[in-house]
Amino acid sequence: MTKTAINARPWPTRVRVSRVEPAREEPDGPRVRAWHAVVAASMAQDAPGTAPAAPGRFHADLNAGTTVVWAATRAGQVVGLAVLRLPSTTVTGRAQVHVHPAHRRRGIGGRLVAALTAEARARGLYGVIMAVPAGGTGDAFCLRRGLTRLRTLHHLLLSLRELHPGWLDEMVAVEHPGYRLTETARIAPPGRQDAVPGDVLLTVAAEHGRKVVGCTEVVVPRDSGPQATQHDRPPVDGHHLGLDLWVKAAMLRLLYDRYPQVTQVATDNLEHDAALLAVNRHLGFRLHHRITEYRLDIPGSPATN
Ligand SMILES: CC(C)(COP(=O)(O)OP(=O)(O)OC[C@H]1O[C@@H](n2cnc3c(N)ncnc32)[C@H](O)[C@@H]1OP(=O)(O)O)[C@@H](O)C(=O)NCCC(=O)NCCS
Repeated sequence: MTKTAINARPWPTRVRVSRVEPAREEPDGPRVRAWHAVVAASMAQDAPGTAPAAPGRFHADLNAGTTVVWAATRAGQVVGLAVLRLPSTTVTGRAQVHVHPAHRRRGIGGRLVAALTAEARARGLYGVIMAVPAGGTGDAFCLRRGLTRLRTLHHLLLSLRELHPGWLDEMVAVEHPGYRLTETARIAPPGRQDAVPGDVLLTVAAEHGRKVVGCTEVVVPRDSGPQATQHDRPPVDGHHLGLDLWVKAAMLRLLYDRYPQVTQVATDNLEHDAALLAVNRHLGFRLHHRITEYRLDIPGSPATN
């Protein structure tokens, strides 16, 4: 919608919030593009320099795992989107809510949250985690609605092509007597929250005897996208000894060699995990923005009665 078109309509124009079915849409169809445009405008406003994945991947993400999606429309134009990800093994879901910057503070975000709260209650969830860019409108929105602030994460980015492979080789070559590195690559099965079926799940682990004592996993997008996502698991107690750096350097070396299309690696680290942040910084990861996670308790669920 153009600015002129928005301004031509006096407030309040009726807003509709309704369930939508991403699985029925073409990945680059007009509805998916309209949802994508709202999320892109919202992210650009609250976390400058960030953007949703390209429409095809964005569509695949909406269909990954079990999700319920709502769109808010005003005069036929999409102005907001909410996505509730249902858990497979816990009673806590995850959600994202975005309202186009030109349509904020008119109750649309509140209506999207009401829709996902009702759905979460009907599905027996105890709570929903919302991740918002720190210091943006989401903080004020969540605090005003009484959500519980849980923790802060650092979203870090690494430009892979700025690393010299020889430097990675040196770190991988450091001896760790009694430990060995192993690697596995498998295709993501349906049902994962953090990967789309068909993505490659690349794991590098440090093993002591038969026990995995340190591990890192990277999700390489199936569509040759340039950004991989790293998930860190802390080394098992008593097995630090620089294993983190060893395992991650080996992972970056693998990515460098086998997935040349990957030029950037993203990861989220807990703000208070100084050791992990230091290892990632040493490898060249840089802070892009901070994320605050809030918990929305679901009234009427067994946990809150
Ligand atoms: C957070 C977001 C969804 C709110 O959408 P919205 O349509 O403006 O929400 P509502 O109109 O229902 O509620 C707005 C309330 O949030 C708070 N709020 C939102 N933006 C604010 C700001 N810039 N300054 C202070 N308070 C703000 C206020 O309490 C406000 O109520 P008020 O206008 O009566 O003062 C929207 O700003 C957004 O898309 N942000 C970026 C993505 C994000 O952080 N999403 C997480 C949501 S959990």
